[in-house]
Amino acid sequence: MDFEKFILDDIIKVEKKIKAIIPTTPKGVYGMLEEYLFRGGKRIRPIMLMLAFRALKSNNKQNAINIAALLELYHNFTLIHDDIEDNSKFRRGKPTLHISHGIPIALNSGDALCTLVWNNLLELNFPANKKIKLISIIGRAFQRVVEGQGIELDWYKNRKIDISEKEYFNMISCKTGALMGMTCEIGALLANANSEILKKFRAFGESLGIAFQIQDDILNVVGDFEKYKKEIGGDITEGKRTLMVIHAMAHSNKEEKKKLSQILMSNTQDRKKIKYVISIFKKYNSINYAKIKAHCFVNDTNAFIETLPHSREKNELKKLSDYVLNREF
Ligand code: IPE
Ligand code: IPE
Ligand code: MG
Ligand code: MG
Repeated sequence: MDFEKFILDDIIKVEKKIKAIIPTTPKGVYGMLEEYLFRGGKRIRPIMLMLAFRALKSNNKQNAINIAALLELYHNFTLIHDDIEDNSKFRRGKPTLHISHGIPIALNSGDALCTLVWNNLLELNFPANKKIKLISIIGRAFQRVVEGQGIELDWYKNRKIDISEKEYFNMISCKTGALMGMTCEIGALLANANSEILKKFRAFGESLGIAFQIQDDILNVVGDFEKYKKEIGGDITEGKRTLMVIHAMAHSNKEEKKKLSQILMSNTQDRKKIKYVISIFKKYNSINYAKIKAHCFVNDTNAFIETLPHSREKNELKKLSDYVLNREF
């Protein structure tokens, strides 16, 4: 998406910081990380942090840049581990790290990213009380991310497919919403906002994160690999309980329901079976339903953006909301 130069310049600084943080040796730990981190991730979380920070008209950008870099590292740690957990083959258009380097090395390099985050957070130049507040907000969000991941993995392990929407929204608000909500909250915290404003920025980021995840799952079904850069239909092989699955399960007849759950629990790569699941989504309008739900969350984020004073940051936040709903990559 086309952001204004001021935000692109911030992201260049975030990327420089990422390069500076990753050690060069031992190569067996860090050697593959620079290539991975610079495959062309969207950097949406650093963009959110910088826009929240800037929307509150704050100076002293360096801390915001540094923390944005660290949170992007954490995001990449979750992706490396997630691809092992999900048995995914492609990330950002290239083989996932465990496919190219094996599971043990991928696990360890993911752990290295997580360790770098904590060590570098502790070294930040802040008064002790502010650092504790910052670290506790970050720690809580990181915990929610792994809890969301665990809830989803538990559904797979225990072959649980009758998920309610409430359970589903709780799971994605943890695995995806928590990190995005926290990046916005941290942006506002670094701009010295009060606790009421922090809460609003967190809610904004979390809603955007939920919409982001729904759209991501839609693209997994109807997207184009060249743009989306992950395996189309991979979520069906994985057996992901997406909003489309929940909707289709609730509306299909007994026979279709049985077939759907059998396919979703078989980790199949058979294109015919994958196509069958997509045909059921289409038959019951489940893709549209997911779109409408994503829209509702973005309506909330737009209502929040409208409360902000007029500024170029406000325009960029609006663009970001639109992008989350309409993105193809
Ligand atoms: C992927 O996140 C994981 C989800 C929350 C769906 P992104 O789509 O932000 O990943 P990159 O960093 O741009 O590759
Ligand atoms: C997204 O996981 C959230 C995290 C990685 C923490 P998914 O499994 O839904 O995302 P993709 O489809 O692999 O990017
Ligand atoms: Mg995954
Ligand atoms: Mg996953």
